[in-house]
This record gives sequence, structure tokens and C-alpha cells, in this order.
Amino acid sequence: MTPRWCLLPWRLLGGSRLDREIRVGLCGCGVIGEGLVTALLQHADVITERVGAPVRLAAVADKDPARLDIVRAQDERIALVDDAFELAQRDDVDVVVELIGGVEVADRLVRAALGAKKHVVTANKALLAERGAALFALAEANGCDLYFEAAVAGAIPVIRVVRESLASDHILSVRGIINGTSNYILSSMANEGAAFADALKAAQEAGFAEADPTLDITGGDSGHKLAILAGLAFGARVLPGEIPTEGIEQVDPRDIQYARNFGYVIRPLAIAERLEGGALDLRVHPALVPEGDPLAHVDGALNAVAIQGEMVGPSFLSGLGAGAGPTATSVAGDIIDIAKNSLAGAPVRTWNFPSKNDQEIQEIADLSSRYYLRFSVRDDSGVLAALSGKLGDSGISIEQMVQHVDAGDEGTASIAMLTHHAREGDVRDSLHAVDATDLTTAPTHLIRIVE
Ligand code: HSE
Repeated sequence: MTPRWCLLPWRLLGGSRLDREIRVGLCGCGVIGEGLVTALLQHADVITERVGAPVRLAAVADKDPARLDIVRAQDERIALVDDAFELAQRDDVDVVVELIGGVEVADRLVRAALGAKKHVVTANKALLAERGAALFALAEANGCDLYFEAAVAGAIPVIRVVRESLASDHILSVRGIINGTSNYILSSMANEGAAFADALKAAQEAGFAEADPTLDITGGDSGHKLAILAGLAFGARVLPGEIPTEGIEQVDPRDIQYARNFGYVIRPLAIAERLEGGALDLRVHPALVPEGDPLAHVDGALNAVAIQGEMVGPSFLSGLGAGAGPTATSVAGDIIDIAKNSLAGAPVRTWNFPSKNDQEIQEIADLSSRYYLRFSVRDDSGVLAALSGKLGDSGISIEQMVQHVDAGDEGTASIAMLTHHAREGDVRDSLHAVDATDLTTAPTHLIRIVE
């Protein structure tokens, strides 16, 4: 016979959720960590109400004593340590938040925390993109949650949407602006005529950029995030190195101006799409987006993700993708989810992060796209005819074109054109041939058009 006490709800036994608290240990108190301290301390009443139990910041680890002093000034009851690994083992911590970044040390830290049966929240896209499969397996084996909403697109809850809300649908494509720093730089260049370096500095000062902003401007950060999204949306285990990736550093103010004249805006895009034959089209690069496209209106540090599903149709999510407040809010949301899971006695809502890639990824040379091309040419008779003849020989058809004599540089001109659809390998071969002649005075610039 079932013992009678099993049938009694906890509250009838005199217990209440408020008998328990969830204790958080934060590792890494940089820009996002500081934001999380603020969220957990200043929004404690709202969080307690929504969880049904207090969520207390019990400990913070950082190597920089000055950062710990800032935490101490806000609440002197928080334990402060300089060793994140010590924090990950503490008995008074239930959830470890990893905000130290990087891959190697973060990997060991998350493993240590899971090994000590702590739930983990991380915002570390590089770590999950590179090591996610092993870490999720370890979390499951230890009966722990591993949450990561803040790893992709800051405040936008795209992980939950793809993993839960759209879980029944076949995702056809995910396209987005998922690096706030590069979008901020391109927007500042376009809207205020800012120089690249000044816009990057402003993005760093606003706390959008990675510790090493190279990852932002070369597309590496978007590649990490796209690898995670492709895993969620398509069950594809893709390593960031397998994603064709270009950054925004080659975008010249002239490209922004020409694009505008053609009716386009240049945005830093990340694309994952299931092609008709079943292969995946994965890529990160700046792209010309038509002015009427919703992505063209995503300005500054805003991120956006457009998802197309077989049954759900198009969805569009937009919000701040970088910065302390938005990212810390996502981290806090994960802590709250874990707290609720724990209190309900239902932890380990992990998912099967694909451990091997058995899916075909389209070679970028086989991409069919329209292209923006900017040639630097000699301003001589016959140059334009020779140029268009060479493109025509490769089956590349010009849709629109404009030529300007370069100011202050007599004898040279810029030709900007948009092509009809063409195979990228053919376009690249043709440009290679053109640039090998004396028609051009500098390497030709190519940007893909995305519609
Ligand atoms: N450096 C990142 C960005 C932060 O600019 O989007 C959020 O991942």
C-alpha cells in the first residue's frame, strides 16, 4: 500500500517554499557580472515573489580585489573570494554562474561546478560552441541544469523560443544580427559618418564589446552564437571553424554610401538555413539588406533574429544583444528558471546537444546569391566594356551599376554594381581574373546581398 504521507502536499505538512532559498555563486564580476549583482540585489523582492522563495547572492569570485570591493559596498554579507574554483565547491552555493569568459579555464570551472552537483548558468558562447556536447552530457550525468540564454543575443530570449516554443516545428531558417558591437559600428558609420576606430571605441566604452574585440569585428563571436543556434534549430553539431565567416573590418564608408544609393543597408548577419536538398547553408558576413527588410531597421547595439518555421511561418525577435543590463537580465532569468525547477523537484531540463555532425554543410563556393561589387579601375576608355565583358564571360549578369571618378585621384574611378544571382565560386574566379589584369588598381570588393 502507498504510504499516506506520500499523498500529502508539502504545504499540508507544514512546509512552505519560503523555507528554502536558492544560493547563487557568481564567478567573474566584469561588466555583466556587475549587472547581475545589481539585478539580484535590487530586484530581490520581485525575484522572490516570482520564484516563491528567495534567490540570494551568496558568494562572488574575482581575481581583481577592486571589483570585490564594489560588491562588498553593496552587501557585506556576500562571501568574496579570489578563486572561482573554490567558489564552485562551496556548500553554501546551489547555482554557479560562469561569467569569466574564454574557453579553457571556463571549461574546467564548469566541469568542477557540475562535478560538485551545482547547477550552472553561463553566458559563454565560445565555450558552448566549442565544448557544449561534452558539458551538457556532464550536466545530465550529474543531475544538474546547464542554462545559457545570455550566450546568444543578450536580452532576446531566442534560446527558449527555439528550444521550447518552436520545438514542435521544423525550422527552415534562422537569420539575424547577433553581434551588437559590429552592428553598433556599422550603424554609427552609416548614421553619423563615424570612423570605424571611433565607433569601436564607443562600443567598448558602452560595455558591448568582448574583452578581445577582435572576436566581434571579425565575425568570430557571431560564429560561436550561430553554432549554438544551428545546434538548437537543426540538430547539427557544427564547430565555429566550419562556418564561413567574414567580419565587418573590410566595410568601407564608400560601400555604405553606394549601398544606400542602391536602396540597401549593410548589416552584420549570421545565417543558418536548411536548403532544399537538405544541406545547411551556414555563414557569417556583412550583407546588403533591402531598406524595407525588418533587419535593416535594427540599429545600434540592437540584435534581431528572424526565424522561419514550416508551420509557424515567420517570427521576428528584437532587443538589446549586448551590455550589462540586458545580458544580466538573461542570466538572472536562467537562475530563476533553475530555482523554480529545483523547488518543483524537477531539475535537469537539459537537451540533447548534438555530439556529432552528420549533416552536410554547403560549401560557400556553391552559394547562389546576388552580389554587390566595388571595383577600383583606371578611368580610361574601354575599361568598363572590358570589365563587363569579363564578368559576362563567367556568366555573371549585371543588374545595376554606377561609376564615379575618384575625387582627388585623377585617372582612377570606382564602379559599384549589383549582380543578378550567380554561383559564388564563379564570381570569385571572375574577380580573380579581373584583378590579375591592369583594369583594376586595387582588389575588388564583394559583399553578399541577402533578401
Ligand atoms: N560582444 C558581444 C556583442 C556581447 O557585441 O554582441 C554579447 O555577446
